[in-house]
Amino acid sequence: MSTTSGIMTLSRFIVEQERIHPEATGEFSGLLSDMAIAAKIVARSVNKAGLIDVLGFTGDENIFGEKVKKLDVIANETIIHALDHGGHLCIMASEESNGLIPIPPYHKKGKYVLLFDPLDGSSNIDVNVSIGTIFSIFRRVSEGEDGTLEDCLQPGYKQVAAGYILYGSSTMFVYSTGNGVHGFTFDPSIGEFLLSHENMKIPERGNILSVNAGYINRWEDWMKRYFEYVTQEDPETNRPYSLRYIGSLVADFHRNLLYGGIFLYPPDRKNPKGKLRLLYEANPLAFLVEKAGGAATDGRQRILEKVPADLNERTPLIIGSKREVELVHEFIEGKR
Ligand code: AHG
Ligand code: MN
Ligand code: MN
Repeated sequence: MSTTSGIMTLSRFIVEQERIHPEATGEFSGLLSDMAIAAKIVARSVNKAGLIDVLGFTGDENIFGEKVKKLDVIANETIIHALDHGGHLCIMASEESNGLIPIPPYHKKGKYVLLFDPLDGSSNIDVNVSIGTIFSIFRRVSEGEDGTLEDCLQPGYKQVAAGYILYGSSTMFVYSTGNGVHGFTFDPSIGEFLLSHENMKIPERGNILSVNAGYINRWEDWMKRYFEYVTQEDPETNRPYSLRYIGSLVADFHRNLLYGGIFLYPPDRKNPKGKLRLLYEANPLAFLVEKAGGAATDGRQRILEKVPADLNERTPLIIGSKREVELVHEFIEGKR
């Protein structure tokens, strides 16, 4: 006999969370629900990727000089069109769009700001490896009708919510509004995300190391010493660490969130500011990891305290279990 009594859908969860805040107008819940719909539509394209003509490159480059994949564009447009008419947003910005994405004049403007990486891990699209969507939500600070650049360039600690959708062996929607990090798994048979990972906490330590070690000769000295340390044999401190690097930040992050560990994209000779984008990748994941009990820094300061100078700002990223981030800092500060 099957029962639905214990089932918590994402939609129901969003509404129940809203009840905790009596001042809520429902605008924010509407925004999250629109995001969930966008997630289902993108997931559908991702899941059919090998069957329909959506693999490969478009022939264009994005603002970061990277080759754009067809699915990057599909995901970008899907999210924009799922979110631009709900009346919840005043402005958007995306890794795959040049500049701000205004809400069309004929749609109502809301009080929230959405920043997103429509498809993270693009290089893995064509080979059926996990990819994702990352999003970050702020409350607007500007006055007036349309949102402005100022609304998008807020430090990460001001995020009111952040999350990601992981298109993996199953599709998951993970988010936080500051009150715990919750994960929902998509059940295709009923077309709903169901609560599967309530109140996730990242283990305090973990011996999984995610870094592109192919760049070892470009690394700074502290990074080489750290790598040397964690790859040495010492059962007492769980060394050597296990190297796990998918190349989709969101998938590497998700695994480390569940198992404990650390992800690094450090500065190197070729990319002195790292590669990852502060607004679209580092901030939302830093918000989530902190809410789950972990930490995220750029090697000097908390990611969430960085004040962005422009939409495309890059940042080094050290993110994961709290103790593991502290260990990296001991190398950076020359204590080891
Ligand atoms: P995107 O696909 O959105 O451009 O992001 C790719 C990012 C990130 O997902 C991943 O961790 C990193 O690039 C991999 O970079 P390297 O190939 O330099 O390791
Ligand atoms: Mn990305
Ligand atoms: Mn991307």
